[in-house]
Amino acid sequence: EKGGYDHFMLKEIYEQPKAIQDTYRGRLLADEGLIKMAGIDQNLERFLNADRIIIVACGTSWHAGLVAEYIFEDLTRIPVEVEYASEFRYRNPVITEKDVLIAISQSGETADTLAAIKLAKEKGAFVFGVCNVVGSSIARETHAGAYTHAGPEIGVASTKAFTTQITVLTLMALKLAQEKGTINKTQLHEFLVEMEAIPKKVEKSLEYNALVEQISDVYKDSSNCLYLGRGYNFPVALEGALKLKEISYIHAEGYPAAEMKHGPIALIDEQMPVIVIATRKGHYEKVVSNIQEIKSRKARIIAIVTEGDEVVKNLADHVIEVPEVMEALTPLLTTIPLQLLSYHIAVMRGCNVDQPRNLAKSVTVE
Ligand code: F6R
Repeated sequence: EKGGYDHFMLKEIYEQPKAIQDTYRGRLLADEGLIKMAGIDQNLERFLNADRIIIVACGTSWHAGLVAEYIFEDLTRIPVEVEYASEFRYRNPVITEKDVLIAISQSGETADTLAAIKLAKEKGAFVFGVCNVVGSSIARETHAGAYTHAGPEIGVASTKAFTTQITVLTLMALKLAQEKGTINKTQLHEFLVEMEAIPKKVEKSLEYNALVEQISDVYKDSSNCLYLGRGYNFPVALEGALKLKEISYIHAEGYPAAEMKHGPIALIDEQMPVIVIATRKGHYEKVVSNIQEIKSRKARIIAIVTEGDEVVKNLADHVIEVPEVMEALTPLLTTIPLQLLSYHIAVMRGCNVDQPRNLAKSVTVE
């Protein structure tokens, strides 16, 4: 049932091209220049009249929410707040009838997320679910929703759920932007065409697996790791660090690259591998100067770069390439090598990749 793979996690990493395609199939109609999402169409007024969007989730799903914040604000100009469900529900949050709450959950059973939904409903907000498990508690509790079509995710570490959540949320943002008129026909078309090219580009990113495995061998005995990214790739840095922590038990932290000089740079020495997302589209020059700062403090650098990059190649100890893509869609590609890196390191350390200690696939208690 692992389809020839050693672990469910690896199988699920490799399923991403198909999972992403399954998620946009029937929704993304590039030729017609439109997006079909019944859950939005049937509640369009609620979305268009929204004063703001509040996204609630936990863990990896929260990271998908952070990526969505960038996309939604960029494309729709609707203010977005992203909250840990556990913090949101207990802090007497301001919620009005003009709020739209989007809850993201792979399992659809996460206790804190479910409780946040109930709270928002009580206050009159419109609640939209992005779940993977059909008929789950969260899918049933929300007013409307859009499923990710990732298929069953067995590995405790979330992989394909994350990239398909980003896919759904991107489609939602595009659909709303189109309805609001905050994106023009040409921009929308460009997005749709680039989205359709994603599965092939994810496949291409997976071809670097052997290289990622070699790099993993160099760093498998580290006790700390720092992940840095900016803009759309800041949440990817957080997600990369979470993946490493949860399955390899190596302490890792994700940071926005610019925050380094406000503290974490004090940690950097030759013992601290730093993983930097440095794709060409998205604050590239600034990330390059962050890399120079890290290098001058003797840390070893693993950089995720755009194919053909020459500048970072000369600075970093290792580079892993991903295909060129528009900035807003980079998380769908830059996530792939980070998933593989944590997978290989965990395997090399003899960890139980699919069922890490102390973790459960769905967290039904708070
Ligand atoms: C990380 C992971 C967890 C979940 C979190 C939320 O790999 O699996 O952090 O993302 O428990 O779960 P869902 O999405 O089911 O609400």
